[in-house]
Amino acid sequence: MMQSDYIRSVGQDLEVPLLDGSYRRYVNFDNAASTPALEPVWQGVKKFMQWYSSIHRGAGFKSQLSTWAYETSREILCDFLGADASERVVIFGRHTTDAINKLANRYPFQEGDVLVTTIMEHHANDLPWRGKAEIVRIKSDEKSPIDPQALEEALKAQNGRCKLVAITGASNVTGLINPIYDLARVAHRYGAEIMVDAAQLAPHRQIHMGRRGDEAAIDYLVLSGHKMYAPFGAGAIVGWPDIFQQGAPDYVGGGAVKFVAEDEVLWKDPPDKEEAGSPNVVGVVAMALAANTLMRIGMDTVADHEARLASRLLDGLKKIPGIELVGPDFYDKDSRVGVIVFNVEGMHHSKTAAILSCEFGIAVRNGCFCAHPYLKYLLKYSEEEAHQLREKLRNNEDVELPGAVRASFGIYNTPDEVEYFLEAIEKVARGDYRGDYVKDPDHGDYWPRGFSIDFRDFFNFTV
Ligand SMILES: Cc1ncc(COP(=O)(O)O)c(C=O)c1O
Repeated sequence: MMQSDYIRSVGQDLEVPLLDGSYRRYVNFDNAASTPALEPVWQGVKKFMQWYSSIHRGAGFKSQLSTWAYETSREILCDFLGADASERVVIFGRHTTDAINKLANRYPFQEGDVLVTTIMEHHANDLPWRGKAEIVRIKSDEKSPIDPQALEEALKAQNGRCKLVAITGASNVTGLINPIYDLARVAHRYGAEIMVDAAQLAPHRQIHMGRRGDEAAIDYLVLSGHKMYAPFGAGAIVGWPDIFQQGAPDYVGGGAVKFVAEDEVLWKDPPDKEEAGSPNVVGVVAMALAANTLMRIGMDTVADHEARLASRLLDGLKKIPGIELVGPDFYDKDSRVGVIVFNVEGMHHSKTAAILSCEFGIAVRNGCFCAHPYLKYLLKYSEEEAHQLREKLRNNEDVELPGAVRASFGIYNTPDEVEYFLEAIEKVARGDYRGDYVKDPDHGDYWPRGFSIDFRDFFNFTV
């Protein structure tokens, strides 16, 4: 495979139907939500599928090969994350949400323990912790990542009660990159551990989890394969094995046990203990293929590529009248991953996204990006406004949901796509679009009247 194929995604040249009846090559700027498979990942999956079989308990050659591939994937992931596989445990699951839920269920919190997190978090790194420990949320201003000084003050105030700091590596809303190694140092100094939600960081920047005893070591890290070009349903926790050695797993069944009697269970050691049921072997192998592919491309190349696209997009957006940036108005690769969020003045974010999709073939995400507290903060919603919205939603009343439009980049996106996006959004901002966009009362999203697509023309469950 040529080097250039390493940055091609599957389906990259597909055309999609537009409102005027024409077709246009799809531009996917929704990579923070999920990424397509990169070509080498897909080729690797196809190769592996010939050898796919049940793992761990099969004597057949394919079972043994599949078991080896599954177990080796743990080492590849450690390599990718700058962790030493011999002292870490890698627990595979479905995605980041799954991983954080497991960590929240298994972390040995005691009565009165505190978890420090931030206002920047995706709901996946907020909701699972509720009820497990007392939660303290720190924040920064809207243009800055979390300041280690703010963490230090929070930890000082907790007087040794904080056991874990759970923080995003990069925000899925502003793209801001948190100084995770400095934060780790502070956490450790105050006797706490740190967990990094790397769903947005791992596919975009080099990570170095470090070794036991390092002041700046990342204790636990979670990620999703589908955000790193391996959309086959696997995710992982990488961390210290100790907490998983104690107690019973949160999810139980076959594969997790050494011995089961009617009145007793002997658990295996982690990671097996924490992976009950038949694992997603293909998903895990795909994630390892993605890690290998990213290592081959080089994370510096990834960061430089993103910086080129994101800086150009940001500069271009700033020159378009009527564009309101949300969050930081600068871009540099050390401060942000390639996520840019904005609104078109006077236009609902859902309508902007619908016009981009239906009239330009451009995919973006809109809404609150599963980070309601952060959006409330960034959009400067007052307590009163938030309260009114909450009451209307509680009563199932019709509301205009607040939010914004997000463009996010992958390694396969091109400068030409950014130029096309800027032309498109400039037209949208000056009202140069043709559809009559109406709000669907059921889900609140906008769509052009009379535009319907028969998806069976594109995919009909046959080959
Ligand atoms: C920062 C962050 N954390 C966690 C998640 C949840 O990831 P998943 O849906 O793969 O569990 C996301 C998804 O967008 C995210 O952006």
